[in-house]
Amino acid sequence: MIRRPRRNRQNEVIRNMVQETSLTLNDFIFPLFIIEGQNKRVEVASMPGINRFSIDTLLEEIASCVDLGVKAFAPFASIPEQLKDKYATDSHNPDGLYARAIREVKRNFPEVVLMTDVAMDPYSSDGHDGIVEGGEILNDETLEVLGKMALTQAQAGADIVGPSDMMDGRVAHIRRVLDENGYHKVGIMSYTAKYASAFYGPFRDALDSAPKKGDKKTYQMNPANSREALIEAELDIAEGADFLMVKPALAYLDIIKALHDNSHLPIAAYNVSGEYAMVKAAAEKGWLDGEKAMLESLLSIKRAGADVILSYFAKEYAQFLRK
Ligand code: PBG
Repeated sequence: MIRRPRRNRQNEVIRNMVQETSLTLNDFIFPLFIIEGQNKRVEVASMPGINRFSIDTLLEEIASCVDLGVKAFAPFASIPEQLKDKYATDSHNPDGLYARAIREVKRNFPEVVLMTDVAMDPYSSDGHDGIVEGGEILNDETLEVLGKMALTQAQAGADIVGPSDMMDGRVAHIRRVLDENGYHKVGIMSYTAKYASAFYGPFRDALDSAPKKGDKKTYQMNPANSREALIEAELDIAEGADFLMVKPALAYLDIIKALHDNSHLPIAAYNVSGEYAMVKAAAEKGWLDGEKAMLESLLSIKRAGADVILSYFAKEYAQFLRK
């Protein structure tokens, strides 16, 4: 045997020398949940270790993350039921919870990067990402709402807006609205290939944003399809996206790789709530080593071709690095 691959695995120094992929804190965006009120910190039942924060405790949480070296955040707001309506009006309210939170974070931490969520579902009385009429999700009418929402977020201080709705033409529409209003520096991280996934369950618990009727299959992608992701990628590139995102991450590593190989834009991957919950639940039962499973999952996402990872593990990963 002249070829013995084990020679390069024989000790840690050599293993580290030949390691192809590594994670750094620069790769991460940490999603955060916001609620109304004061001095609130309410754990999400299906996401141990992840809380919903009122704006004051959100600032404390961001301070502790910044101390650990986490510098980018993706906030999501949980909107009281009575403020939800058919047209998600509160989503572009400059005095709404979300806009207030963005302004406060940027005022206290001008150096952090905020990637905001552009989608109607947390504000929609139907719990959908678009306007519902006669059981149908209206595409072009929804774009108007998304444009207003993105503009309100940019005015509040968002650095990057993240359309997570999967309506056709939304990147072009949002880009035009931002540019017409002088926000040419605000980037767009498009949820390019967002699949109709069971792994969003815990997130919908956190925000109380599950669809009241039906599912999201007329806009989110069919998990069986990969070539369709390339159509979405072509459109997002043509429409002016600055990043392409794949979501979820772990069940879609092939899609991350496909986008990485077929475009020159940075690729992001969203390690979603259900992927986090699975690891936490198994670890709580003592069925696997939660920390090792976290590190392996995150590394796999990077290895597949993601430059940016949105993950509920971001803070825990930063804490792990300090140990
Ligand atoms: C909806 C949205 C969802 C997530 C982010 N934005 C859920 C959905 O499409 O129903 C899920 C994130 C996660 O599960 O961590 N616009």
